Amino acid sequence: MSGKPFEDCDVWEESKSNDNLKQSSFSFKKNLKNKTKTKKAKKRNHSSMEEDVEAGKYVRAPNYEPLDSLIQDTPPNQKKDKKKRKYEAVDKSNQSSDGVTPEKKKKIIEKHLESQKTSNNKANGENVKTFQNKLRENLKGSRFRFLNEQMYKQTGSESMKTFQEDSTAFEAYHEGFRHQISQWPMNPLDRIIKNIKKLPKNHVIVDMGCGDARLSQSVLQKVYSIDLVSNIEGVIESDMAKTPLESNSTHVVVYCLSLMGTNLKDFFIEANRILKLNGIIKIAEVSSRFDNIDTFIQFVQKCGFELVSKDLTHNLFYFLNFKKTHDVNNFNKKIPDYQLKPCLYKKR
Ligand SMILES: C[S@@+](CC[C@H](N)C(=O)[O-])C[C@H]1O[C@@H](n2cnc3c(N)ncnc32)[C@H](O)[C@@H]1O
Repeated sequence: MSGKPFEDCDVWEESKSNDNLKQSSFSFKKNLKNKTKTKKAKKRNHSSMEEDVEAGKYVRAPNYEPLDSLIQDTPPNQKKDKKKRKYEAVDKSNQSSDGVTPEKKKKIIEKHLESQKTSNNKANGENVKTFQNKLRENLKGSRFRFLNEQMYKQTGSESMKTFQEDSTAFEAYHEGFRHQISQWPMNPLDRIIKNIKKLPKNHVIVDMGCGDARLSQSVLQKVYSIDLVSNIEGVIESDMAKTPLESNSTHVVVYCLSLMGTNLKDFFIEANRILKLNGIIKIAEVSSRFDNIDTFIQFVQKCGFELVSKDLTHNLFYFLNFKKTHDVNNFNKKIPDYQLKPCLYKKR
């Protein structure tokens, strides 16, 4: 039995019936009044008396059904339904043995239904919350994947524009990225930090595409942290193809998972400009982005570097070190364009 009909019944008993009684007696009196007032008129007009009788019938009808008849299934004098009478008898004997009146019973059931309703609401509320959280997470994930793909498929300056036009996009991207790295077996930045720590303390380091700028917080050397948006103190807001750093002024340029964008040539020409001769480029990148590692190495060499070391043994990441051998510039037509494959993340 659902709770609602029972509740309706209660309401009907306490207030509706009283209202009906009032309405009933009011209407009845009104009819009597009308009767005395128009006694003569009635004699004259038989049809008006008919109208009054109809009105009286209508108002009396709903009020004389006793409350007990709502609880009992069948009037006891109906012999044909013996089963129901039996149940009724059991019900009545229960009443007498435990001394619970129908009113008390109703209150108990009402209380029970109310508590059931509350616990159902609670459970529903929790389900809605879980669903909303899931939806929110899905939306966040979708937004991260969208931004990530965009950054791989456009130039650095176009990505900068994307972030300038939507002030929430950079944090949304980084929240998604943090979630991704939390699922990787290693963070390649840890390995780079370990290497930099071994370098002389007077070396000047540039962290291109620094993200949360963890490198600068982890080593003693001077680190210029560059990214498309600066929402962390000390980060220089700049496209890494065109930094405000002085030419031939730095010892190490780091690209940790930051070779995004379609204009890699511009990035390496800029690294060539700001690095001192023999300065080092350190690259950590997702291995699946490389179609052919040799063509990539040849490309970097054309930008004025030579390969110092490579570690291709890790199953997720490649680690490469290059050394600057000579100056190149933007106008060098021998340097071809080069792109790595985008690193697209699966739906969470
Ligand atoms: C995948 S995150 C890596 C962040 C950080 N290097 C790390 O390992 O935790 C790539 C970062 O490179 C930045 N980036 C991509 N293209 C850039 C560009 N053209 N100039 C500056 N930063 C860029 C992105 O904004 C992002 O913060």
